[in-house]
Amino acid sequence: MTDTHIVTIARHIIDEERRHPEARGTFSDILTDIALAAKVISRQVNMAGLVDILGGAGRRNVQGEAVQKLDEFAQEVIYRAMDHTGYLCCMVSEELEDFIPIPDKFPAGEYVLVFDPLDGSSNIDVNVSIGTIFSVYKKITDQERGSLRDCLQPGRDQLAAGYVVYGSSTMMVYTSGSGVHGFTLDPSIGEFILSHPNIRIPAARLRPYSVNEGYALRWDPGVRKFVQHLKSGLESGEAFSSRYIGSLVADFHRTLLRGGIFLYPADANNPSGKLRLLYEASPLAMIAEAAGGRASDGRRDIVDIQPTELHQRTPLFIGSTDLVDLAESHIASAGDSDVALADDQPK
Ligand code: AHG
Ligand code: MN
Ligand code: MN
Repeated sequence: MTDTHIVTIARHIIDEERRHPEARGTFSDILTDIALAAKVISRQVNMAGLVDILGGAGRRNVQGEAVQKLDEFAQEVIYRAMDHTGYLCCMVSEELEDFIPIPDKFPAGEYVLVFDPLDGSSNIDVNVSIGTIFSVYKKITDQERGSLRDCLQPGRDQLAAGYVVYGSSTMMVYTSGSGVHGFTLDPSIGEFILSHPNIRIPAARLRPYSVNEGYALRWDPGVRKFVQHLKSGLESGEAFSSRYIGSLVADFHRTLLRGGIFLYPADANNPSGKLRLLYEASPLAMIAEAAGGRASDGRRDIVDIQPTELHQRTPLFIGSTDLVDLAESHIASAGDSDVALADDQPK
């Protein structure tokens, strides 16, 4: 008998609301609207080789990076899915320098949406998994159409966070603080169906570490010692495998499901690292913590960082708690005698 018990995102959120009466319908609608945008982006990603959507858009974004056509497309799709609903007061996108107030012609609401419309752009043209990252905050000022202050909130104040990974299948993963839930898009019915309820980062032994080792010579000594320690197999002698896709969403999704650690450290050329706090590190940090893991900038929890700029960058160490803890202890003890490192047993 075909399983007729299919749980869509909308149904799951309604079930969640029953468990958490404080969650208002509005909030559920925001997630449902994001899911719609994800379906439209997924369709375009899956046809990227066929339609004129590959390659550069001929301009650079606020980050100074060459904008890919799919970046622009994803930006527009999310903006148009969300600008008229009356739920948001403003938005923040990786692709636009300033925050985006909801236009006067539409009603404004109580929530702020921050997002990276397309993550892993450098992989678009070579058909490697890419993604979208988002999170939702409550407005904290009385500005009807939001203000910078409403956008610069620490990750701990996120109401929800999620990502979409456009890979061998399109999956949407989100948390609103009680559990992390994964939905797989069934293109035949155009619905995201609950496929990974209550994701927990496994305590598996053989867990990949994920970092771009091309920058190793530019890392701080503590980071170099940490990665060297992983390569030595820690004390169990079981060497870690290395996996690096170069799309944060794909590398994080594997870390969430398999365990291990993803790190994008600061280096001599990027003293604050490359990844952006507001719409890359903080949303994934909320998800990692809700799945029993951790996310740190090497010294403190990502979600405790008070943003001062929309596009500020941060080093990121995210995944299994014991490995993030170990990275922090290597960084803290760097420059101390090596004896200290020998005492540094995984917990
Ligand atoms: P984006 O495409 O949104 O700019 O993000 C790209 C990021 C992230 O997806 C990935 O982890 C990182 O860039 C890869 O950087 P390197 O190529 O330096 O390894
Ligand atoms: Mn990104
Ligand atoms: Mn991006």
